[in-house]
Amino acid sequence: MELAGKHLVLGLTGGIACYKIAELTRLLIKAGATVQIVMTEAATQFITPVTMQALSGRPVYTSQWDARIPNNMPHIDLSREADVLVIAPASTDFLARLAHGRCDDLLSTLCIARGCPLLVVPAMNRQMWQNPATQRNVATIRADGIELLGPDSGSQVCGEVGDGRMIEPEAAFEAIYAFFQPKILRGQRVLITAGPTFEPLDPVRGITNLSSGKMGFALARAAAQAGADVHLVAGPVSLPTPWRVYREDVQTAQQMHDAIMRATPDADIFIAVAAVADWRVDHVNQHKIKKTGDGSMPTFSFVGNPDILASVAELPNPPFCVGFAAESGDLDLNGEEKRKRKGVPLLIGNIGQLTFGRDDNEVVLFEAPGTTPLPRTDKQALARLLIAEIAKRAPKTGGPLLS
Ligand code: C5P
Repeated sequence: MELAGKHLVLGLTGGIACYKIAELTRLLIKAGATVQIVMTEAATQFITPVTMQALSGRPVYTSQWDARIPNNMPHIDLSREADVLVIAPASTDFLARLAHGRCDDLLSTLCIARGCPLLVVPAMNRQMWQNPATQRNVATIRADGIELLGPDSGSQVCGEVGDGRMIEPEAAFEAIYAFFQPKILRGQRVLITAGPTFEPLDPVRGITNLSSGKMGFALARAAAQAGADVHLVAGPVSLPTPWRVYREDVQTAQQMHDAIMRATPDADIFIAVAAVADWRVDHVNQHKIKKTGDGSMPTFSFVGNPDILASVAELPNPPFCVGFAAESGDLDLNGEEKRKRKGVPLLIGNIGQLTFGRDDNEVVLFEAPGTTPLPRTDKQALARLLIAEIAKRAPKTGGPLLS
């Protein structure tokens, strides 16, 4: 439960994007948060308080004069319990009221009286967003230290296309979740490989492996949430790109190698999670290899692929390099030997058949001073743990750290 123990006040203002807040509320509740909904009068025109009460499991507040709060000070009581106040969707009018410190309804008063951080998720027509008055208000809100999440660009319910639409509920959830994570990698540039590679034999066949990419994608997500700029080079997997992660898709080991070599000069930390194919055929057939009538089998000769991790580690000024090793047994023996052979300061070992495709994993850290086993846990939690371990060890500016 990623948000267990967190209490949010979620404020809805008038806009068609209110329909997205039903899903956002579900995601927050599913992650273990408690959510107190507050709505402006206009928001109740777009989605009913009954819907939001059912989804949040709490009574919804809309009025400053609500008699359910004994001391009649909902603007104080509601925000004092909150870890964060989120306004989603935030309308043009609400941005204006927020910029000017107005207190003309419960939600705007809550914002002024709050004792917790405020996140604002704007949603409006592109002309309303671009209007100089709105842009002035946005600048004022940002200068007040309030974080804006979005808006997105794209097609709008009104039929127009441009900036202003609300970010999707999943992205809003990720941003809210990231808000709670310690920014232990702020300013660091992290490069990650993930997934399998695919080495073609002919236009329709190839050699690959069972890596799902889940561990590498979880690490990319955790690094981005820890404040890093993340560049993810992914082999063929069908996973969604984590929030605020720059993703580059490749197919073969050689393509992955080339992408990493281009990106390495800009990286402070390199985490090689991909299960890279060790070999490729030296000649890829241009046409599909046909079955022969006489029952004879095709033969292939192989050449080795570049070792991406070792190539980065032996650069004159490498980023802090972290390797992964999926062994089929004898992890203790093979882990340290592999760390030294690859020339990296930290190697994370696991047993291949106990991790590939699964949602959980169990790893051992290998480094010069010795080994540290970590308990079996789900890959998202493990990724946060590993990012914390990497952040502790990586020098703030990158550079060589071999031993
Ligand atoms: O040698 P082995 O494949 O077991 O090494 C595993 C580690 O090396 C992983 O971090 C993997 O991503 C990386 N690797 C690589 N390029 C290769 C083979 C492995 O970067 N060609």
